[in-house]
Parts: sequence; structure tokens; C-alpha cells
Amino acid sequence: MATTLITGSSSGIGWELAKCFASGGDDVVLVARSEDKLQELAEQIRNEQGVAATVIPADLSRSENVDQLCRSMKERSIAVDTLVNNAGFGALGRFAELSVDRQTDMLMLNIVALTRLTRLLIPDMIHRKRGGVLNVGSIAAYQAGPNMSVYYASKAYVLSFTEGLREELAGTGLHVTCLEPGPTQSSFGEDSGMGKLDMFSSSTMSAAAVAKAGYKGYLADDDIVIPGWKNRLMVTSVGFLPRIATRKIVGKLQSV
Ligand SMILES: NC(=O)c1ccc[n+]([C@@H]2O[C@H](COP(=O)([O-])OP(=O)(O)OC[C@H]3O[C@@H](n4cnc5c(N)ncnc54)[C@H](OP(=O)(O)O)[C@@H]3O)[C@@H](O)[C@H]2O)c1
Repeated sequence: MATTLITGSSSGIGWELAKCFASGGDDVVLVARSEDKLQELAEQIRNEQGVAATVIPADLSRSENVDQLCRSMKERSIAVDTLVNNAGFGALGRFAELSVDRQTDMLMLNIVALTRLTRLLIPDMIHRKRGGVLNVGSIAAYQAGPNMSVYYASKAYVLSFTEGLREELAGTGLHVTCLEPGPTQSSFGEDSGMGKLDMFSSSTMSAAAVAKAGYKGYLADDDIVIPGWKNRLMVTSVGFLPRIATRKIVGKLQSV
């Protein structure tokens, strides 16, 4: 029996990814701040999939909570086979005007927690020669994003880190995959402020479809999964344009 830990599983893509891994027969460890929502999902998973679902509430924007999460799992004798680093958030607005703390928390969650948790859990995975890491990035990784500069840069990190790690772990038997969603129906649109932008609201995918593509890609050990043909077309087009053009276009689409 394998165990998968999914961060940010109290809603959206993480909620759906937890259901995918549980449907595949994995026990799941559900992590986010909203304990009530995690308990609701855990009960659903236990009833419908018949696997174990453990809830560990944690604010992962604090490094000490990431360490505490790993200690909690050790105390419960839970060995993580697959780590899904999904928790993340964005904020639309000018860098100089968005709150210092909000942008710092974003970096702590989108980058530091993802990296620290991976570093703490990966040695055991390498030792057992199974499992791996599914990181949730974004199509924002492929160009700069004026008026959302920190979020786009954080997702560029996720993609670069995942690709580097994948090469380091080649031949170990571990899977390392980056799921790069485009606009997706979840709390993200409203929380980040992006939901009001035409470029976001005109082409959203369901969180279930995004999660399914990510799960399938992870099982197949794909390096990068971009769900949806529109998102794939967007990323391909970006590759043909000079960076100055893509950042000007995104800046116009995200004007605040
Ligand atoms: N939706 C999109 O359009 C889109 C597009 C590209 C990439 N993504 C990425 O997909 C991932 C999932 O986002 P989503 O769309 O599913 O949005 P969501 O519904 O807002 O889910 C975000 C998850 O992260 C958790 N989270 C937020 N802050 C946290 C913290 N400090 N500590 C622990 N958990 C925290 C939230 O739970 P709590 O609030 O309970 O803590 C929630 O479970 C994110 O990395 C996001 O950047 C989303």
C-alpha cells in the first residue's frame, strides 16, 4: 500500500488530486489550514475509496510548520511515497503596492515550503526506490507576469526546480513531474483577483480535469503536464516570441 501526501487539499486542484490518488488505491495525507474541509474530504475518501485518509492541518508558509508536519508523520509511522506539492496562491496587483507580508508568504508557500518538504521527504523515497514528487506549477512559469510579478516568478522557480530534480533523480525509479495548469475553476480566481480578468475567466478548465491530467501524467512519469489544448498552444506560442513581447502582452492583459 502506497501513501500520498497532498498539500493544499482543502479545495480546488488539491482536493481533486487527493481523490485521484485515493481512487488509485493510495492512502492519503491531507494538508492545508482549513481542518474542517480536510475532515470532510477525508470522510468522503474513506467512505468512497476505502483507503486511509489522515488529516494534518498546517500553515505551510512557516518553515517550522513544515518541519512539524514531517515530525507528525514520523510519530504516526507514516512513510510518504508520493509528495504532491500543490498548495499555493497568487495576488494580482502592482509589486510596489501589494502587501509586503502577503508577497513574502507567497514566496514562503509557493517556493520555500515546496522545496523544504521535498528535501525532507526525498531521502526516504530514494532509499525505498519508489514514489516521487508531483509539483503543481502554472503556465505562468513560461513568461514574466507584470502586475503579478512575484506569483509568475514563483511558478518559474517551480518548473526549473522540478526539471533539475528530475535529472538528478534519473535512474532512481522515482517519478518527478510538473503539472502546469492554466486558468482553473477554484478559489484561486477570486482569492488572487485574477478571476475578474477576461484572459482568466474566458477559458477556465474544471479542477477535476486538471487533476486527472496531472495524476495520469505523474503515473506515466511525464516531465511536464500542461492540461488543455488552449494552454498548450499558449505555451508553444510564447516559445516563438521574444520575452519583451510576451511580458508586454501579459502586462496589457493583466492591467490593474
Ligand atoms: N486555479 C488556477 O487558475 C491555477 C492556475 C495555475 C496554477 N494553479 C496552482 O494550483 C495550485 C492549487 O490552486 P487551486 O487553483 O486549487 O486554488 P485553491 O482552491 O485556492 O487551493 C489552494 C490550496 O492551498 C491551500 N493553502 C493556501 N495557503 C496555505 C498555507 N499557508 N498553508 C497550507 N495550505 C495553504 C488552501 O487551503 P487552506 O486555505 O485551507 O490553507 C487550498 O487547499 C496552486 O499552487 C496554484 O498556484 C492554479
